[in-house]
Amino acid sequence: MFAQTSSFAKAFVLAVASLSMFTAALPAAEMEKRAVFTPPVTYPHAGTVWYVGQTHNVTWDTADAPANITDRFGGRIQLREGDTTFPIILADDFDVLLGRIEVVVPWVLPGDDYSLVFFGDSGDFSAEFTISD
Ligand SMILES: *[C@@H]1O[C@H](CO)[C@@H](O)[C@H](O)[C@H]1NC(C)=O
Ligand SMILES: *[C@@H]1O[C@H](CO)[C@@H](O)[C@H](O)[C@H]1NC(C)=O
Repeated sequence: MFAQTSSFAKAFVLAVASLSMFTAALPAAEMEKRAVFTPPVTYPHAGTVWYVGQTHNVTWDTADAPANITDRFGGRIQLREGDTTFPIILADDFDVLLGRIEVVVPWVLPGDDYSLVFFGDSGDFSAEFTISD
């Protein structure tokens, strides 16, 4: 167990070290090729009704993903009502190329102007949908 943990830790340190060497070695021109990826959220969509406490797969379209994404593992989904984004994180630090991630509908007041904010490289909003209790 200890040996496993320790070799895992070593592998992790190595991975981080080689990653930062790789990044440092990248010429500026290559860095600039890294693109902003704001995938369209395909579910929930207009007409979707979610109930508090349910688990759902949020889905998004990865078809137009650029080859180099600046923050590929920095996906985050937050809830928004009207023009207000809540400081509630539904999913965090996921791979934006997954195309789906499970979220649990938080305990919020019922409303029909909820949407999701998808942070890949930059924010994108889903269509408005309903949360019911
Ligand atoms: C992606 O990044 C790699 C390494 O920096 C580079 O060689 C390649 O040309 C880039 N691809 C695109 C499509 O920008
Ligand atoms: C989400 O999608 C995965 C893969 O298709 C599936 O295994 C899982 O059951 C789904 N979750 C829900 C809540 O539907």
